[in-house]
Amino acid sequence: MKHATTPLPAPIVDSGVSLEKALTERRSQRTFSSEPLTTTEVGQVLWAAQGVTDPSGKRTAPSAGAIGPLELFVVSADGVFHYLPDDHALEERGGGDRRNALSAAAADQDQVATAPVVLVVTGILARTAWKFGGDRAWRYVNLEAGHAAQNALLMAAALGLGGVPIGAFDDNAVMDLLGLPADHRPLYLIPLGHPG
Ligand SMILES: Cc1cc2nc3c(=O)[nH]c(=O)nc-3n(C[C@H](O)[C@H](O)[C@H](O)COP(=O)(O)O)c2cc1C
Repeated sequence: MKHATTPLPAPIVDSGVSLEKALTERRSQRTFSSEPLTTTEVGQVLWAAQGVTDPSGKRTAPSAGAIGPLELFVVSADGVFHYLPDDHALEERGGGDRRNALSAAAADQDQVATAPVVLVVTGILARTAWKFGGDRAWRYVNLEAGHAAQNALLMAAALGLGGVPIGAFDDNAVMDLLGLPADHRPLYLIPLGHPG
């Protein structure tokens, strides 16, 4: 099926915020103001997590075998969107605000419902398993989700945003309510917003 695609603003690759400052500022943030994120902010965080930084297609985060088993989704009041790293664009995957349902799938954690944006990191084991075998793939894909999540959280800090990595959720419920393909395993939910 062809999905509507919206380009994101070109990533800003030299903001002037030091890595040390972003590392110092990063703190798990669970309360957010109602101020929405701009498309520039959303694009920066997605680019930090999985942006393409090399003509070969390599990304901001390392990947075992340079395979890239992760897929990113954005959940907001406007619907569900899939990040296309090669195009630095968002593809619409469904309308409607699903943040309350996502919160319910995450043990009713309020920060999932109240954040203007929730980044969902998913992994496709088969992409990595054909090369490294199932056991290593499970490990590698989880490690890669950690790299991507930390990149996203540091970018959020550099932008003056807050976020929190969430591991407590029902995988099947998240897959169902986001309409994820059966091979996309949700690994992290990352609510993001302006500190409230
Ligand atoms: C694998 C993992 C899972 C986590 N799951 C949750 C979660 O479900 N809910 C939540 O509020 N915080 C979650 N956190 C965030 C931690 O609670 C937080 O990192 C910790 O309290 C340290 O605080 P800091 O991030 O501000 O340094 C998780 C962190 C990690 C690394």
